[in-house]
Amino acid sequence: MDTCYSRETLGNLVTQNFVRSQVFEKLGLDYCCGGTRLLEEACHEKSLDVAAVVHALELCDVSEAKTLATDWATAPLSQLVNHIVQEHHAYLREELPPLAQLVAKVAVAHGKAHSELYELQTVFLRFKTELHSHLIQEETLLFPLIQGLDSAPSSRVAMLLPLMQTLHKEHDMVGRSLTMMRQITKDYSAPDTACNSYRALMIRLLRLEKDLHQHVHKENNILFPRVQRRVQQERTLLA
Ligand SMILES: [Fe+2]
Ligand SMILES: [Fe+2]
Repeated sequence: MDTCYSRETLGNLVTQNFVRSQVFEKLGLDYCCGGTRLLEEACHEKSLDVAAVVHALELCDVSEAKTLATDWATAPLSQLVNHIVQEHHAYLREELPPLAQLVAKVAVAHGKAHSELYELQTVFLRFKTELHSHLIQEETLLFPLIQGLDSAPSSRVAMLLPLMQTLHKEHDMVGRSLTMMRQITKDYSAPDTACNSYRALMIRLLRLEKDLHQHVHKENNILFPRVQRRVQQERTLLA
């Protein structure tokens, strides 16, 4: 078994090759909010065979997709910020309102037989509200500061670290809501008797979870640490 992989964090493994996130998604290993855990620890927690997981990761490394992906660990910070906004924030803005309508529709139609759908609706609506204000904070406060790092006065740069800490904590809330929705829906499964709307809801929630895992991974494990290192380097130079 490759001990380099097993002693590496989930977040770093995905940062090095994004295709590996597919293995973690399939196995239910949280690489975004739980991205600082070592692979071997995460596997032991889930009673997974570490060697088998490492093998699956190695298969990803020969995948063609690796060569096509942007290396977010080295791309300019402003490019990474633009990518997060255009790819992930835009998806959420487009998807969350109709998804809220679909959650309500399915709860009304099937809530009597499946009372967990009312709970799903409550969790989803709270999650949607929290996420909405989170995106606004990133786009109006944090991201402009990051994009202006080169020209920003040091007093403004000092605001970056506490702001990132707050937003990092909000990611944990997002992660908890996703876990709750997965539990409520029993891994986004629809009963045999479910109508097309019910099935479509499960598929769209699953897609939402996957996109948010990638989104939070890029912020928690790539963007925030890179900004933190940059601010610390500047402080060292000024000292
Ligand atoms: Fe974001
Ligand atoms: Fe975020």
